[in-house]
This record gives sequence, structure tokens and C-alpha cells, in this order.
Amino acid sequence: MTILITGGAGFIGSHFARRMVSQGSRVVVLDKLTYAGNLENLKDITEDSKTSQLFKFYKGDICNQELVEHILSVEGIDTIVNFAAETHVDRSIQSASTFIDTDMKGVFVLLEASRRYKIKKFIQISTDEVYGTAHRGAFKETDALNPSNPYSASKAGGDRLAYAYWATYKLPIIITRASNNYGPYQYPEKFVPLFITNALEDKKLPLYGDGKQSRDWIHVEDHCASIDFLMTHGKDGEVYNIGGGNERYNIDTACIILDELKKPKSLIEHVKDREGHDRRYALDCAKLMSLGWEPKIKFENGLKDTIEWYRSNQSWWKRIKSGEFAEYYDKQYKHRFSCAE
Ligand code: NAD
Ligand code: DAU
Repeated sequence: MTILITGGAGFIGSHFARRMVSQGSRVVVLDKLTYAGNLENLKDITEDSKTSQLFKFYKGDICNQELVEHILSVEGIDTIVNFAAETHVDRSIQSASTFIDTDMKGVFVLLEASRRYKIKKFIQISTDEVYGTAHRGAFKETDALNPSNPYSASKAGGDRLAYAYWATYKLPIIITRASNNYGPYQYPEKFVPLFITNALEDKKLPLYGDGKQSRDWIHVEDHCASIDFLMTHGKDGEVYNIGGGNERYNIDTACIILDELKKPKSLIEHVKDREGHDRRYALDCAKLMSLGWEPKIKFENGLKDTIEWYRSNQSWWKRIKSGEFAEYYDKQYKHRFSCAE
């Protein structure tokens, strides 16, 4: 199998690339290397002589039709897993334009090329955010979509466009909607790595609103295992929810992080809430589980290991935090800290 992993230099894509080469698949990564893409995330693959020969990297944009078609024509790709996306909700609130380009137009370019080059399997990595807030119960795949921020709305566009290519052209697509991932190599703008690294630096943890929003956490290794599983066991044209079964209030997750690092709770600062903040995400994963897959990593264990990874890999995140991130952090948080609730 030769897999094209788009967005393979990001958080989840790099874990998936590592998993697939270690199992002997040939992997081609196409990544634009935006602020979130990082070749260091793939270093263990490229520096190992066994895995490096199974691996090829292209720097480029999934919106670039010519480049995408070139890769499909020369690399003998049979499967595409599309992780490439603008992924941070807060950045989409600041400015949505790149989200529309990559998360919608980029998906269109990949789907068109896949149709032309008769790709055998196309996995569109969507998100549980497309359902919007779960006021009660848990969302099934058949529930209506109700995205409420520019990120989730653009992901919903890509999600439904992928479905349209199945319904209209019978392109063999599968759509996955996973819950919040955590684990090593996650860009420190996201809640878990931001709170771990801020705590390690004795900086304030900016908790939005009352902190009683909840998220269902899945370890990135479990998420990648489920995608691998669906490549062979999933049915074309279907959507699969992928949850971790670990619903937690943000404030409780923040407290676990502080306890683990032996830091005081006073580091938590309640700040002005995110605009249009989805209060709760919750997934019904019976459809995936009925095929015989379930997550293995318990949240408290996975979080402990993740904290240890950030403690032992400070050069990885300190380099990120001193670059473009510093400017973003100021813009996102400076006014929030000054008008704390
Ligand atoms: P990330 O932000 O860490 O990585 C995204 C990667 O995509 C980066 O390497 C970036 O350089 C690349 N990229 C961005 N625009 C591109 C373009 N136009 N062309 C080529 N490459 C481009 O994201 P992540 O957290 O690893 O998320 C991966 C996918 O999983 C996304 O589609 C996201 O919507 C989805 N997802 C994420 C989560 C989560 O909790 N992180 C949960 C569910 C679904
Ligand atoms: O649910 C899947 C989605 O999870 C993915 O599709 C997205 O790509 C990914 O970014 C994530 O979205 P969230 O908005 O849930 O993740 P984030 O890490 O930004 O925030 C998690 C929760 O923590 C959310 O309720 C907002 C809150 N939060 C976040 C940040 C960055 C804070 O309280 N303070 C913060 O500084």
C-alpha cells in the first residue's frame, strides 16, 4: 500500500505516518509546513534507515491542483488520508480565510484528483465539532450538523463535499469525526499542551469562562489506530464517530495537569470566554465499536505520559513558543488576562 498523508507534518498526521511506516506501508507526505507543520515531528522516521526508505516528503499546498496531480501520477498512490487543515478554533475567529481555502477548497482539489487518478480509498478526517454543542446525550453519525465557528463550519463543508463525491461519483470515501486529541507533538496553542507548558514555565493558565465546558479526550495513538482500522474495516460512503470515552470539564483537566506537575491551582486564571464557545462535545461511537474497535488508553494514564513527554522534550516546544507563537499568544491572550472575570 502507498498512502498519501496530507498534513503529515502536523500533530495527528505525523503520528499516523509513524504508525504506517512502522507497519511497512510506503508513505508520501504532502504538507505546506504552515506554522503548525514541523519536520521535527517526522525526524524519527527520516533518521532511521529502515523507515526512511519507505518515506517521501513533498512541501506544498493541497490547494495546488498541479502538484497534487503530479504526486498522484508519479507516486503510485492508492490511498489518501487527508489530515491537512487549519485546525485552531481561536485562530479561525481571528481570521477565517485560510480555513476556507484549506478545509474546503483543498478538500475539493484532493477529491477531484482522486476521481481522476482512481484512488482506491479516501479518508477525510473531519471532526466532532461539525455537530456543534451537545446539549444532552451524544451525537450519532446521522444527527444534523450545526457548526458554530469558522473552523467547524469549514470542516463541515469539507466533510459534506467528501460525502458528495461518494454519492455522486462513487469515489470510495470514508469520513471520520473524532473528538479532542491529546498526546506528544501537539502544537502548544491547543488546551492540553498550552496548559502543560505554561505550568512548566510557571505562567498563568488562561481558562475560558467558568471552565465548565467539557470535551471528550482521545489519545492520538488511539485515534490513529482507529483510522488504520477503518481503512480495512470501514464501509465506503459512511461516517464514523471516534471518541475516547473520556468526557471531562476543562477545569478538571487543568487541575489534573497542575497536580501532576505539583504546581499551585492559583496558576489558573479565568479569562474572557471564547466567542461562540461550544459548551460540550459528546459522541455516540456504537457504529465504530460494532465493527470491533475501541480505544485502549485511559485518559489519566495518557495525560500523565503526555505531561512527561512535554517535560522531557522542552527544546521541541520552547523553540515553537519563542517564534510565531509569541505574537499569536499576545494577540489572543493579552487583553483577556487584563479583563479577567
Ligand atoms: P495540526 O494543526 O497539528 O496540523 C495540520 C497540518 O496540516 C500541519 O502540518 C500543516 O502544515 C498542514 N497544512 C495546513 N494547511 C495545509 C495546506 N493547505 N496544504 C498542505 N498542508 C497543510 O492539526 P491536527 O491537530 O494534527 O489535526 C489534523 C486533522 O485532524 C485536521 O483535519 C483536524 O481538523 C482533524 N481533527 C483534529 C482533532 C484534534 O483534536 N486535534 C480532532 C478531530 C479532528
Ligand atoms: O473536538 C475536536 C476538535 O478539538 C478539533 O477538531 C480541533 O482541531 C481541535 O483544535 C479541538 O478543538 P477545541 O476548540 O475543542 O480545542 P482547544 O484545545 O482549542 O480547546 C479545548 C477546550 O479548552 C475548549 O473548551 C476551549 C478551552 N480552552 C482552550 C484554550 C486554547 C481554554 O479554556 N483556554 C485556552 O487557552
